[in-house]
Amino acid sequence: EPVVAIVVAAGSGSRLGAAVPKALVPVAGVTLLRRSLTQLAAGGVQQAVVVVPAETAELFDADLLDAPLPVQRVVGGAQRQDSVAAGLAVLPDVIADAEALVLIHDAARAFVPSDVVARVIDAVRSGADAAIPVVPVADTIREVDEAGSHVIDRTRLRGVQTPQGFRRSIIEAAHAVLSDTGTPVTDDAAAVEYTGHEVTLVAGDRLAFKVTEPLDVALAVAVAGGAA
Ligand code: CTP
Ligand code: MG
Repeated sequence: EPVVAIVVAAGSGSRLGAAVPKALVPVAGVTLLRRSLTQLAAGGVQQAVVVVPAETAELFDADLLDAPLPVQRVVGGAQRQDSVAAGLAVLPDVIADAEALVLIHDAARAFVPSDVVARVIDAVRSGADAAIPVVPVADTIREVDEAGSHVIDRTRLRGVQTPQGFRRSIIEAAHAVLSDTGTPVTDDAAAVEYTGHEVTLVAGDRLAFKVTEPLDVALAVAVAGGAA
């Protein structure tokens, strides 16, 4: 089946505080968005929808020239979920196959190894409704409430990364239900889970870290092995 990615890049990048939209921040001369597209293509994605901020949409044109795979640009919304919905809305223009595989990826996870992408695709091809990459949690985690706090058994926790993969019909239906009911979710697997589907976990990779704060750029530069 064909594999299409929705790459969400419509955030403001407020925690990073860069002069350009976060997805256009260069690391060793290559933007986070372009790095994400390259990794997705290497892992088996054939086309992409890139969701960009409305105010700075034109800034993305130059970066999307000669993209590593065919790309359609679309404007996103206020919350990540709105941006994903905007990407899903243009899927009919991009791909006819109702049973295509849809990967949803944060542009900010620019160093995701291609084998993580391939594992997500393989899991959905093999029949999973949803497949997501996860990693062990490194820190001890405490849950805090009015009464105080208590430690959570870390061995039972996983950090969730992207790309998250879905059968097209399942992610489209899930987002439709969320928008009808006004239900907020922080990722797309949660949307699918909300509609009663099981989520399959595959091995993620620390390299799929999300560039969020300035310290992450220092890590990105080191991973890229070049000068900022
Ligand atoms: N995103 C999006 N639309 C939004 C918010 C986020 O497409 N309205 C995307 C971001 O561009 C990013 C991914 O979702 O690739 C993960 O979000 P995050 O890392 O939080 O990025 P920002 O929202 O841009 O950063 P911040 O929260 O620091 O402002
Ligand atoms: Mg954000």
